[in-house]
Amino acid sequence: MTLRIIPTGATLGARVEGLDLAQPLNEPTLHTLLQALGRHGVLKYPKQALTAQQLRDFSARFGELEINVANAYQAPGLPDVMILSNMVEGGKPLGLADAGQDWHTDMSYSRQIAFTNVLYGTRIPRRDGQSLGNTEFSNMHAAYEALPGELKVRLQGMTATHDFNKFWEKMRRERGSQRPPLTEAQRLAKPPVSHPLFLTHPITGKTVLYANPGYAMRIDQLAQQDSDEVLAFLFEHQLRPEFRFANQWEEHDVLMWDNMGTIHNAVADYLPTEHRYIQRCQVAASRFFDRTGQPRSAALAA
Ligand code: OGA
Ligand code: MN
Repeated sequence: MTLRIIPTGATLGARVEGLDLAQPLNEPTLHTLLQALGRHGVLKYPKQALTAQQLRDFSARFGELEINVANAYQAPGLPDVMILSNMVEGGKPLGLADAGQDWHTDMSYSRQIAFTNVLYGTRIPRRDGQSLGNTEFSNMHAAYEALPGELKVRLQGMTATHDFNKFWEKMRRERGSQRPPLTEAQRLAKPPVSHPLFLTHPITGKTVLYANPGYAMRIDQLAQQDSDEVLAFLFEHQLRPEFRFANQWEEHDVLMWDNMGTIHNAVADYLPTEHRYIQRCQVAASRFFDRTGQPRSAALAA
């Protein structure tokens, strides 16, 4: 089988064919996938058949795996494989039912930010033959590029504070969610952190807009009101239709995206009786940044 990377033709996304993710990944292929991920932002590997362990092993090639802060819905014996699902068995939820429903970037609240999420979908809700529960993306290379020139200059070198609790609380308020408030210990484990608003993408070398409505709270160098106004502008700007791409799931897809070059949203257009089951690994950007968030030397990166 030869590896083929077929761009969707939209602003983001490519389909990777000819690769069995259950097999060990060699270095040249890993390098090709890293470049493709930087360039296309979202990669889909159709028709995979993976155990949780194989999903974990594939994901771990891209960087260190995270154990979710909520510390629940883990695959048996594999704490770094998380379950996203609305399915219930014997009164017990099989997974986190409302993961990612609203625009965000994973782990922007972490000192060492996220690189990629790797999701393996085995139950996809469907109605009238159409799959539901799309994962939507927006292109942050394009969003930066299209910013007004004077704003690029004004915000150059600035940082924004990101807080895990912002998204958690928003989900609790807006969705009538089952999520309990974060405990004191969970909050202490994830204190707010600052990151550059304009990040040099470690694979493409280009600038991306690193902000997202889920976690970004404040532009550190601006007065509160100015920060509120600029963030409101950025949150609207970064979702312009021309930056957007919606992934439609098929059973046994593996979907992988770049959390620096994109932001994402899980579309909640299916009912509790329409079942979705996804196993997920979250990969830190450990290949590019150390634990304190300092960039590693470029040679190591891609
Ligand atoms: C995530 C997420 C989107 C989805 O895994 O981080 O936001 O469609 N999921 O499940
Ligand atoms: Mn997410």
